[in-house]
Amino acid sequence: MPDAATVSAITPGLLDAIRAVVGDRGILTDASDTAAASEDWRRLYKGRTSAVIRPGNTDEVAAVVKLCVAAGVPIVTQGGNTSMVGGAVPNEDGSELVLSTARLNRVRDIDPVDMTLTIEAGVTLKAAQNFAAEKGCLLPLSISSEGTAQIGGVLAVNAGGNNTVRYGNARDLVLGLEAVLPDGTIWNGLRRLRKDNTGYCLRQLFVGSEGTLGIITAAVLKLVPQPKETAVAFCAVATAADALELFARVQAHDAAAISAFELMSGLGTSFVLKHIPNAALPVEKPAPFYVLVELATPRPNAGLRASLEFVLEGALTDGVVQDAAIAESEAQRAAIWRLREEHSEAQKREGASVKNDVSVPVSKVPAFIDEATAACEKLIPGVRCVPFGHMGDGNIHFNLEQPVGADPAWFLDQDHPIMETVNEVVRKYDGSFSAEHGIGKLKPYMMPDWRGGAELALMRRIKDALDPLGLMNPGKVLP
Ligand code: MLT
Ligand code: ZN
Repeated sequence: MPDAATVSAITPGLLDAIRAVVGDRGILTDASDTAAASEDWRRLYKGRTSAVIRPGNTDEVAAVVKLCVAAGVPIVTQGGNTSMVGGAVPNEDGSELVLSTARLNRVRDIDPVDMTLTIEAGVTLKAAQNFAAEKGCLLPLSISSEGTAQIGGVLAVNAGGNNTVRYGNARDLVLGLEAVLPDGTIWNGLRRLRKDNTGYCLRQLFVGSEGTLGIITAAVLKLVPQPKETAVAFCAVATAADALELFARVQAHDAAAISAFELMSGLGTSFVLKHIPNAALPVEKPAPFYVLVELATPRPNAGLRASLEFVLEGALTDGVVQDAAIAESEAQRAAIWRLREEHSEAQKREGASVKNDVSVPVSKVPAFIDEATAACEKLIPGVRCVPFGHMGDGNIHFNLEQPVGADPAWFLDQDHPIMETVNEVVRKYDGSFSAEHGIGKLKPYMMPDWRGGAELALMRRIKDALDPLGLMNPGKVLP
């Protein structure tokens, strides 16, 4: 807890000095603006801040950081504020300033020969994808919140998403980085080299650091050729084990073409059908599980549809798949993807939910789902398990929806025993307690148990070395 001296450090004089750097449009102090920036997307945390600072360029970020350091004021960097773990909200006592990256919104360079995009932190992921597409390239990172999430935040949390099975996580797409360090120094590491073996890989320190080591202001991202052919199928399966068998068959047939392999439960999909306007089931009958499989290739006339049909016909004959629909148009493809991407929003509308963003080896996904379901139903009778997510890379969102009619506040109070119950199964399969959402404010207490000893000690030494005053996103990541 900051002491009283720290709390009073956000003085009118400090705000005036910051205003002199960023101008009137670079500082928001109206209650509606500060309140919106103080609450997370899931509404788990409600903090308080006296101002949201919106620098317009990297020099302004650096100047603001220097002023805050001199005043001993902590900074919470915020992009699209779509964190699932409260990673970008200020604390409750009002002692922290929010620094928004929204005005760092320029594309600095795009090169379709080098296949690189040099882009500032405040550009949304969706806009970045569009810039790449205009040049005939693909930025191969896709997450459900891409319309709002900003590049800086996406990198700060090392976002994963739907295409990890093919292209890896955000970390795998970063060639260069520019960041403002906790003392206000600007580090320009915006190199766009594919080979650069010159000492410690500093950019990777900031990717996944969740704003605790500095502020990412720009990055060089790798692009890939845009697909010339895509095929998407929505498949009904009886069990998660059947979904795994289908994955194995698609992999055996044409592993290099898989760009997404996503799992949805019947229950989670029924929430989407209930709460999201115009959502429709592409197969005839509801099933216990569904799979979205997408194949893509930059080669023209590659016969992907025939390839998908071949695998699905075999799977239907062998009873691995109950029914399947292949998208016939871009509109159908988008409608299938919507069923998957609206899962979180639909769960939010259905009631209170506790999220478990976990990963296990791909081959263990069915066993994990079965065992975690049984354990949670035993812990809270009537609880509704909604496993879904990125089956192709082993990352399952094992979310739990409150029992029908239960008090949402009571249910949310059970979050620690619920997460512990799920994590016990995760541990059994050598998995991770946070696969892609990060640690934020929600999970630092789990760190000693899962990453304790040498690993956590090393993380603390890195934090102390870079941010000795502890002013960068305090209370996140490290317990
Ligand atoms: C998604 O993949 O849609 C999000 O990461 C999931 C979530 O709500 O847990
Ligand atoms: Zn996800």
